[in-house]
Formats: sequence, structure tokens, C-alpha cells
Amino acid sequence: MSGIRFTLNGVAVDVKDQPPTRTFLDWLREDRGLKGTKEGCNEGDCGACTVMLSDQRGTRAVNACILFLPQLHGKAVHTVEGLKAVDGTLHPVQTAMVNEHGSQCGFCTPGFVMSMATGHLNGVTDHDTHLAGNLCRCTGYAPIIRAAEAAAAEPVPAWLAEQVDASTLNGLAEDAPDGVALPRSSDELAAWYMANPDGRLIAGATDVGLWVTKQLRELGPVAFLSGVDDMRGIEVTEDAIHIGAVTTIAELMPAIAPHFPGFAAMLRRYGSAQVRAAATLGGNIANGSPIGDSPPTLIALGATLYLRKGGDRRALPLEEFFLDYGKQDRAPGEFVEAVSIPRQPDRLKCYKLSKRFDQDISAVLGCFNVSVSDGMVTEARIAFGGMAGTPKRATAVESALFGQPWTEGTIHKAMAVFTQDFSPMSDMRASSDYRLEAAQNLLLRYFLEDQGLATDVLEVVA
Ligand SMILES: Cc1cc2nc3c(=O)[nH]c(=O)nc-3n(C[C@H](O)[C@H](O)[C@H](O)COP(=O)(O)OP(=O)(O)OC[C@H]3O[C@@H](n4cnc5c(N)ncnc54)[C@H](O)[C@@H]3O)c2cc1C
Ligand code: FES
Ligand code: FES
Repeated sequence: MSGIRFTLNGVAVDVKDQPPTRTFLDWLREDRGLKGTKEGCNEGDCGACTVMLSDQRGTRAVNACILFLPQLHGKAVHTVEGLKAVDGTLHPVQTAMVNEHGSQCGFCTPGFVMSMATGHLNGVTDHDTHLAGNLCRCTGYAPIIRAAEAAAAEPVPAWLAEQVDASTLNGLAEDAPDGVALPRSSDELAAWYMANPDGRLIAGATDVGLWVTKQLRELGPVAFLSGVDDMRGIEVTEDAIHIGAVTTIAELMPAIAPHFPGFAAMLRRYGSAQVRAAATLGGNIANGSPIGDSPPTLIALGATLYLRKGGDRRALPLEEFFLDYGKQDRAPGEFVEAVSIPRQPDRLKCYKLSKRFDQDISAVLGCFNVSVSDGMVTEARIAFGGMAGTPKRATAVESALFGQPWTEGTIHKAMAVFTQDFSPMSDMRASSDYRLEAAQNLLLRYFLEDQGLATDVLEVVA
């Protein structure tokens, strides 16, 4: 009988007889008595539960509270208990935290040092970005950032480098764990989903994790997508950029940056490093959220969505996938396989408005892709999140721009027709009036920036 097999702080473990939606955090603390990894929010927001996850794709920091045990199959995990050497020598980030006084009450500290050690291993120098998913309520961030900077010059301890080396994982995941659906290809996934059309797919679990930890939902049969490698990765051809559904946001960012820097800049504000390392593009689309960040961006770029059910595949413009609030054009047993973006000159800009710069959900996300030739608008694709029950194109605004001179006069006329496209709701993130006015002004901002004029926007820059 085979269980979920991974290495925990360098030692192989084989976990049997666990519900597939048991979180790694609960298992660590309750079954293994490893209580260094803390539970703060239990929803991916605070980073107190950060652990280090390694496999053939590298090493990344993830939140253990929304990580299900089967997602670890074949991987190496390190917790704070495994960060110092067996002879007790502290990891350089731990020494630096002591020297720089980076810890007061200490509750956040294990999560911070795991994020810092991951950044240290990967040669990260932008500590503000890397640590934005870790919250500290008493020390303050300056000593912690100083500690990250101080540790940067120290080498990665040899024992840790050895334990995260993917070659040590060879053979670990040869057998699938009993009783857990962990398909290894899209064909296997398609077959499982046809046999379990009411089953639930779990990709990064950054949404589904909360259904378990916050809503205490029983999910029924589940299949994990983390091993479906033929649905992972980005292929750039002459005509299109093809992105597999299981590609994470962290993997997408550097790949998309050379083509659409505005897309990558927006993704920098998507969740935190831990969330981006787990969340997939397919999950961000399939969940149908009106405030998901990638759909408006992809719609503005004219993306095509690829769906698969059994052996049947179909393609549709992404905007047609979102039918209504909570309703998508996806049949039982059908899944998102990929998305493709047509190659085009880069005219994209995305503006994410949220209360915090990092780790916050958009109140409004506006994405603009307007082509201009000889002073006239030749194409306009504009899409918003947070303005309706679905991610939605601003078709009336687009029509008001199309064929018109690219002037501020045209922009003001187009701003007036936003009310034909949207009647946004008021909620805790923003009022209806705010959303409408902000959306109109974002069009003006896009135009002014395109003219090379300073937009005089107060913006927090990390
Ligand atoms: C702390 C935190 C911060 C966040 N910040 C942001 C943010 O800034 N911007 C943002 O847009 N979102 C944010 N999110 C939401 C979440 O990260 C995204 O929606 C994410 O992309 C979901 O992807 P996933 O792989 O984790 O999906 P999962 O949670 O695994 O799945 C989500 C849904 O999609 C389905 N699904 C997954 N993959 C497929 C597939 N290939 N085919 C069919 N169905 C599928 C699942 O069954 C489920 O219904 C945040 C979440 C957290 C916890
Ligand atoms: S406990 Fe807060 S992110 Fe996991
Ligand atoms: S040291 Fe107390 S929360 Fe960070």
C-alpha cells in the first residue's frame, strides 16, 4: 500500500489514510507535533504558516494552511524545525534575524525565516516584494528587511542545497498514493473527470483551500492537478503565446514580461509570493470570479480559452466563457486546458485599484489595449474586473473610440458612455459611484500616459 510520499526536513515520509483535503498545516501541528509552523489567518493572507517546497521546478515558499497533503507527493518540504543544521548551526537568515533584532513576540518569525531562506536560496534581492506575504504586527519591517539584506552575502548551507536538490526526489512519486486522484497527464485527468463529472478539481488550492478551512465544506471526490505536467508551461510561437492551465502565476510573470510588461506588472500585485507560487492561471479563470485579475487582462488581449471534455476539445473567446455571476460556459466533466494570446504589438496597460498595494483583491481592475494608426483608433479592447458580475468588456466605450481621432476630446466622449457598459455594485471594497468614476478616469490615465504626459497619480511603489 502506497501513501503520499515526500521528504520532510530531509527525511522521507509516507503518509497513509488521510482525507485528501487535510491541510499540511493541520497534519504538521496535530499529527507530527511540529508546531513551529504557525496558524494565523488559515486563509493564505498572513504567511505565518510559510514552508519551503522543492521539486524539479525549483524551490518556492508556500502557505501550509491552504496546501493539501496530496499536493506534496514527490516533493521536498522544509519547515522551520528543519532550517538549522543537525549540529545546531543556524541558517544565515536566522543568525541575521537575531543580529538585526528582527523578532519581538516571535509569532510571525518562523514564517518570515522560511520565506527569507527561500529567497536566499533563489538569490532574491527584492526583499519587499518577496516578503509582502508575511505580516508582522509588532517588530516592524525595517529590521526584518535588514536581516534579509545581511544574510544575502552568506552562502546557502551545503546540507540545505543537498536536500532541495531535485535528484534526491527521484523515484519518490513513482507510485500514485492509494485512494487519491493525482492524474499525471491531461488524458488521465479527462478520464477521471468523465468518470466523476460531479468531482472537484484542485489546482493551486488558493481558492479551494479556503472552502475547506473557512467554509468547512466537504468536497466529495477530488482530483489534484499538480502532476498534470502536459498542462503546465508557456510556448511562444510566431502567432500566439500558449499558456497551460496549470502554469502558476509565478511562472507566468517572467515569461509574459518580455511580451506584455503591463501584464507582468499587474501580476506583481497579485496576492503574495506564496500565493503566486501556488495559484494557477486555469484556476483563476475557472473560478469565474468577477474580481479575478487575469481574466480582464486576457480578454483585453483577445485571448482564446481551450476547454476539454473526455476526448472532445473546443475553443472560445475568453469573454464568452463568463455567462453570469457564478455561471460559466463549462459542462460537467469539462476542464480548462489552456489559454492562448495572439501575438500583437504591445499596447496593454492594466490598472489595479485596491486598498493595499500588496496582497489585496481588486476593487476595480481596468485593462486597456488600444491601437492607433495615423492618429486614428484602429482597434480597442477594454476589459474590467470588479465592475459587473463577471469580468466584462466595455463594448460601448470601445465603439466610442473605434475609428475616432486619438485625442482627449474622444476620450471624454468615451468616458461618458461607461454607464452604458456598467452599473457596478457597492460593497466593502468600493461604492458603485467610486467604481464608475475610477473606471472612467483610468481611460483618461491610459490616454495621458500614452501621450507621455505625467498623470500625477499618487501611487505606492514598492
Ligand atoms: C491570500 C490570497 C490572495 C489572493 N489574491 C488574489 C489576487 O490578487 N488576484 C486574484 O485574481 N486572485 C487572488 N486570489 C484568489 C486565487 O489565488 C485565484 O483565484 C487563483 O488563481 C485560483 O487558482 P488555483 O490554482 O489556486 O485554483 P483552485 O483553488 O485550485 O481552484 C479554483 C476553482 O477553479 C477550479 N479549477 C482549477 N483549475 C481548473 C481547471 N484547469 N479546469 C477547470 N476547473 C479548474 C477548481 O475546481 C475551483 O472551482 C487570492 C487568494 C488568496 C488565498
Ligand atoms: S495561517 Fe495565515 S497564511 Fe497560513
Ligand atoms: S514579531 Fe510579533 S508579529 Fe512579528
